[in-house]
Amino acid sequence: MYPATRLRRTRQADWSRRLVQEKTLQTSDLVWSVVVSDTADPREPVAALPGVDRLSLKALAEAAREAEALGIPAMAIFPHIDPAKKDEAGREALNPDGLVPQAIKTIKDAAPNVGVICDVALDPFTTHGHDGVLDGDYVANDATVDSLIQQALIQADAGCDVVAPSDMMDGRIGAIRDALESAGHHNTMILSYAAKYASGFYGPYRDAIGSAAALKGDKKTYQMDPANAEECLREVELDIQEGADMVMVKPGLPYLDIIKTLTDNFPVPVLAFQVSGEYAMVQAAAANGWIDGDRVMLESLMSFKRAGAAAVITYFAPRAARALNG
Ligand code: PBG
Repeated sequence: MYPATRLRRTRQADWSRRLVQEKTLQTSDLVWSVVVSDTADPREPVAALPGVDRLSLKALAEAAREAEALGIPAMAIFPHIDPAKKDEAGREALNPDGLVPQAIKTIKDAAPNVGVICDVALDPFTTHGHDGVLDGDYVANDATVDSLIQQALIQADAGCDVVAPSDMMDGRIGAIRDALESAGHHNTMILSYAAKYASGFYGPYRDAIGSAAALKGDKKTYQMDPANAEECLREVELDIQEGADMVMVKPGLPYLDIIKTLTDNFPVPVLAFQVSGEYAMVQAAAANGWIDGDRVMLESLMSFKRAGAAAVITYFAPRAARALNG
């Protein structure tokens, strides 16, 4: 009881605040999301993501060396594909010499100690912008899973360390795990986008990979309803049973309750994705002088740690690493 208890005592000095700090944010908590393009030469700005460029393979190699020098553990690759290579079925996703396999090799050559994470989903490769193949207007589950298996195998063959299915089809984690085991890729990890919501916060990403104009309709028949919390327990339970090594919550900041629910319930690493719209909001407000951009960046990243996340995928990774490394 006050005055015996005064919670401000430990807050009075920098040293005592540091001493009682519950959570820490370190460079080792960051995954750098990068957009690689087969048309950028060597870089092309993305209007909706100020500070993020689409990178050529050469620029990607430089970024990988930068990640290694900064101590960022891993990079997550998102491809911007020449529209001429897109089709209804997203066949370019299954090209073993395509942009993503080349990007994997580029990072591994430039910075062998940086982990490579790849999205498994068809949306960068389809003319309609959906994550799978269509049956009428519906994204066909099992036919899509067949393609995702091939896509994941091609990524693993190219040297990808972590395949990250972001498509939200049912049963794909088990199917991909089986295929990886049969192909001898016992150590390829699976990061499941387990609790991925049908969100407006992905807008700038769809611009970055060039699927925004193309997307017909929305993704509500496969991504989760923002109204649902309990359902994340079922999604994650299934994905762990099917062989996921890590799970992801996406978007991040508007879904901190989901991160907390999962970390309270499952002893599995939970990663948060600070998605494009979250990044864009911080950048836009900072550019207007309405918030201190660096401060809000670090505060939002810390909030993921507070909720229990093991790591955060973010477009801020190099900037945050520089801030944290002092
Ligand atoms: C789709 C995918 C999306 C993102 C990553 N993978 C968007 C979507 O589901 O439409 C979003 C990333 C971001 O917004 O930063 N497979």
